[in-house]
Amino acid sequence: MAGGQVLLRVLDSVRKVTGQPIVEKFINPGTLGDTDESEIYGRLPQWGASLSWSFARTVVGFFDLFTMSTDMATCSSAHIGTLIGVNPVSKQSLFQFPIYFYERQTTMANIKFFSGKTTPIEMHRVRIIQKLNLRPIDERWEAIKQAGNNTFLLKNDDVFLDMLTDSGVNAMSNDQLAAMSQADDSYAGSATFYRLEKALQEVFGMQYFLPAHQGRACEHILSKVFVKPGQVVPMNYHFTTSKAHITVLGGEILEIPVKEAFEMTSDCPFKGNLDIDALKKVIAERGKEGIAYVRMESGTNLIGGQPFSLENLQEVSKICRANGIPLVQDVSLLSDNLHFCKQREEKCKNMSIHEIALAFAEASDILYFSGRKLGFARGGGICTNSKQYYMTIRELIPLYEGFLTYGGMSVREMEALAVGMYETLDEDVISQGPQFIEFMTNELVKLDVPVVTPPGGLGCHLNARDFLAHLKPEEYPAGSLASALYLISGVRGMERGTLSEQRNEDGTEPIAHMELVRLALPRRVFTMSQIVYTVDRINWLYQNRHLVGGLKWIDEPKILRFFYGTLEPIGDWQQKLIAKFKEDFGDSL
Ligand code: F0G
Repeated sequence: MAGGQVLLRVLDSVRKVTGQPIVEKFINPGTLGDTDESEIYGRLPQWGASLSWSFARTVVGFFDLFTMSTDMATCSSAHIGTLIGVNPVSKQSLFQFPIYFYERQTTMANIKFFSGKTTPIEMHRVRIIQKLNLRPIDERWEAIKQAGNNTFLLKNDDVFLDMLTDSGVNAMSNDQLAAMSQADDSYAGSATFYRLEKALQEVFGMQYFLPAHQGRACEHILSKVFVKPGQVVPMNYHFTTSKAHITVLGGEILEIPVKEAFEMTSDCPFKGNLDIDALKKVIAERGKEGIAYVRMESGTNLIGGQPFSLENLQEVSKICRANGIPLVQDVSLLSDNLHFCKQREEKCKNMSIHEIALAFAEASDILYFSGRKLGFARGGGICTNSKQYYMTIRELIPLYEGFLTYGGMSVREMEALAVGMYETLDEDVISQGPQFIEFMTNELVKLDVPVVTPPGGLGCHLNARDFLAHLKPEEYPAGSLASALYLISGVRGMERGTLSEQRNEDGTEPIAHMELVRLALPRRVFTMSQIVYTVDRINWLYQNRHLVGGLKWIDEPKILRFFYGTLEPIGDWQQKLIAKFKEDFGDSL
């Protein structure tokens, strides 16, 4: 517009908004501009507008334009209405023009390349580094032999890229590190606790927070409070520790995800959804008394980091509330789930990440989490709005965890968690992991390598049953693949298949639903070239898969055998694989 005056107003919920395109497109040099957004205000002269506070709040008719959600990650710009300037005295119309709102984008997805390729770009820079070792293949062979072909037993010094887990190994931001230095160390009433409590209250809109030292500690306490022998806990899928804490108290878990959960390749966007009919059936059969609670796990870990939809969660919530059954949500992997809802669910497209998080919390009676995943930190905790649950759970915190204002956490990790919770509401932050995983998965799909699809959160999952289709289930294909991958690349993944199960009482093997190798991508840790390297080595291994044989036990512990057990190769396949590697790669590491 020529001349005239304009007020740019930004809603509180909109962060880091970019006003520049609006100003440059619609406001000519010399126009008087004003804004109540300080970041934009400082830059108005730079963009060619003069400054004037005097005009502030004389432009009306504008405010309703931002009542719709402005966190439009999927659009590069959106026409959201018309800006009307009215002289407040004469009521005369001053100007009128369309407003395009340019919001912070899912930036990685929206950076286009001249080549036409789309490659996710890190929206952070690395300022503290840790040196890595890539040992020559003969040394890697020695290391994996010493570890009994169990990647849990490898020393981190012998690992090049550690994709074992995303637990407790996510990179922290400079803000988190800064916050850690203001930690207030006191047994009771520490200011750090109140900062963390406030962060969780704001993020989830829940009043009560109970701290615990990590995720499984929350599971221990919740099981003790809710689970009675003979009761069942229906859930979308178990996590190892959640199952253990329920069953050790005589409870039973019942997994009732939608059928797509077990399909290796699928285009179902929400494989973590609960089967609503199955839930109704179990309620009809067992009644309220027979059900301890219903458990929903966001970013469902063991089926490949797969999300559920907000709609499914709300449906489950409605049924639970109608039947007086508590709904407990494990939000350890919430950040991935929030991202997927925003990307894949119509209902969430126009919601901000925070609004989705609030809706997740609103649908649940209790939230618990591992701070080793959620919030890029350590620790954990339980949130609820129910005073009654709070009072009951509270009794067990000092008994098992520590006083109510630390719950087994160090104050430094609590500070980091508080900041990390706010970072979880930033789409640029939470999209990094899923987009790198998507890139890695899609590259492997192009190479015909069997992987779980659609890409989930947490990591890329290789389907070892198809990758090593020539192996018998009792030869532990996923264990063999994890061992072979370390041998030829120095990349450490985690077996998530039959080895991770407990042997049946009658001595037979419980063949797992899925035989996976999980390649976790801890958040903000790996660079794109490291992903490209990993894809390259997996491709080579797939081309040479016929050389990979099975494993057999040397020492098989009775409980949690995958942590400590040692195995050896059946035959001399590792020597053959090494010989082929040297033939193809010469003296390359
Ligand atoms: N819930 C989920 C969904 C998890 O993924 C984990 C841990 C826990 C609870 C337990 O939390 O470790 O803090 O006690 N998952 C890690 C992993 C161990 O490697 O996937 P914790």
